[in-house]
Amino acid sequence: MKDILEQLEARRAVARAGGGEKRVAAQHAKGKLTARERIELLLDEGSFEEFDMFVAHRCNDFGMERERPAGDGVVTGWGTVNGRMVYVFAQDFTVFGGSVSETHGAKICKIMDMAIQNGAPVIGINDSGGARIQEGVGSLAAYGEVFQRNVLASGVVPQISLIMGPCAGGAVYSPAMTDFIFMVKDSSYMFVTGPDVVKTVTNEQVTAEELGGAGTHTRKSSVADGAYENDVEALAETRRLIDFLPLNNREKAPVRPFFDDPARVEMSLDSLVPDNPNQPYDMKELILKIADEGDFFELQKDFAANIITGFIRLEGQTVGVVANQPMVLAGCLDIDSSRKAARFVRFCDAFEIPILTLVDVPGFLPGTGQEYGGVIKHGAKLLFAYAEATVPKVTVLTRKTYGGAYVVMSSKHLRGDFNYAWPTAEVAVMGAKGAVEILYRSELGEPEKIAQRVKDYEDRFANPFVAAEKGFIDEVIMPHSTRRRVARAFAALRSKKLANPWKKHDNIPL
Ligand code: HXC
Repeated sequence: MKDILEQLEARRAVARAGGGEKRVAAQHAKGKLTARERIELLLDEGSFEEFDMFVAHRCNDFGMERERPAGDGVVTGWGTVNGRMVYVFAQDFTVFGGSVSETHGAKICKIMDMAIQNGAPVIGINDSGGARIQEGVGSLAAYGEVFQRNVLASGVVPQISLIMGPCAGGAVYSPAMTDFIFMVKDSSYMFVTGPDVVKTVTNEQVTAEELGGAGTHTRKSSVADGAYENDVEALAETRRLIDFLPLNNREKAPVRPFFDDPARVEMSLDSLVPDNPNQPYDMKELILKIADEGDFFELQKDFAANIITGFIRLEGQTVGVVANQPMVLAGCLDIDSSRKAARFVRFCDAFEIPILTLVDVPGFLPGTGQEYGGVIKHGAKLLFAYAEATVPKVTVLTRKTYGGAYVVMSSKHLRGDFNYAWPTAEVAVMGAKGAVEILYRSELGEPEKIAQRVKDYEDRFANPFVAAEKGFIDEVIMPHSTRRRVARAFAALRSKKLANPWKKHDNIPL
């Protein structure tokens, strides 16, 4: 018996050693942790339960039969994050470069199947040279099986991808179908075709970092939701994100203990909106002052900064926040911000996370760039996302909200539950100057008359009361009491029930 126990320990030790000391040292030299070190930091101490530690590949080509390392380049299993269950896989770059074989793929599929069945998030740590070159189509099939599960899991359990090394070719499409992608600066990259192929085909010269590094994907492409300095920070932030999320679409997000008074008054908010309507202010200040303990987990902060998305808690409960940011492009909606916010709203709705919308929007960004780029379809995504969402929706208008953008931003007409306005809010078809220039074109040569017309229009519409008279605004509230009003609104909506008509699925303008 003792022999057998020792044998097991010996086999475990070999599996845990991965690709051996030299390759582990090379991994560390690149500033990267190993698969097992990453899992250890991600999960609660001692909570990891491994599956398939002894699985080995079945390939007999190119001399592969001489090397069958236990685990086959991916560590899989489950554990807990602050006591809540998650499934995890971490590709081990020290074993065949973390490349995906049939068996490697099957290991990932096994934990994905369990996650879907048992209702817990999947966290995938990607660090791989892609398809196992020696296995050919078997490897492609393995990817296909993973992709299929990504789709089945979508909207059922949260899926988070950490990119902590190479992720290239078709391999990028598994993370692409997950809910959140986090990258590590300078040590991770994602692209469909690498710099060499790009050079051959388009004659562009670009480094891997420029083509698909964390900076590129968080600022330009919006493929990734966050970029972190190193593995440790990325893993810690993943734990923080998990704390905001439900385990699956049948459960509510966890309620955390909170020490912040839900009725906290913030007098400074009464002067947040400047007197000059063209002067910007920082909408993040409002978010932080509404949130429990000022804790805000922002997503895609470096992309389309004219809209802010992320999670806060109110009375300990997770709330998704979408907010126009007057500091960037005057907070107007455009292609990028519509796409960014639409995907976020859909995530919240899929996982029963209530949505708080803070509105100060002058409209959609004009221009050929926007029209040629399809702002009609992209703007419609956000409209569609809000309109189909059945979760509690609370909206606060802080300043201007004009035209189609007024309707889009979780208005009453899209089943907003509580629509509040600050006294500084203006709900109109457009700004006074633009309106007068259209209505009184013949008087444009007479500045005094026009000034009076602008004033008349402002007096009539530069306030929240016309909308409030029609019931489109439920109440005009004091800025300083926003946290209390919003917290009470969400509390009143805890047992909200609303369903859309039966359908196979909708046809959101993609
Ligand atoms: C088998 C691989 C491998 C692969 C790397 N290795 N990629 N083994 N299949 N795809 C092995 C190497 O042989 C080496 O083994 C070890 O992993 C480390 O690789 P290095 O090249 O020494 O590391 P590095 O210099 O850091 O370069 C990393 C790399 C490079 C840029 C990822 O390895 C590389 O270009 N690999 C090939 C990438 C690729 O073309 N993959 C197929 C893409 S197509 P030893 O024994 O020396 O340690 C694809 C399609 C997916 O993925 C389709 C899905 C539908």
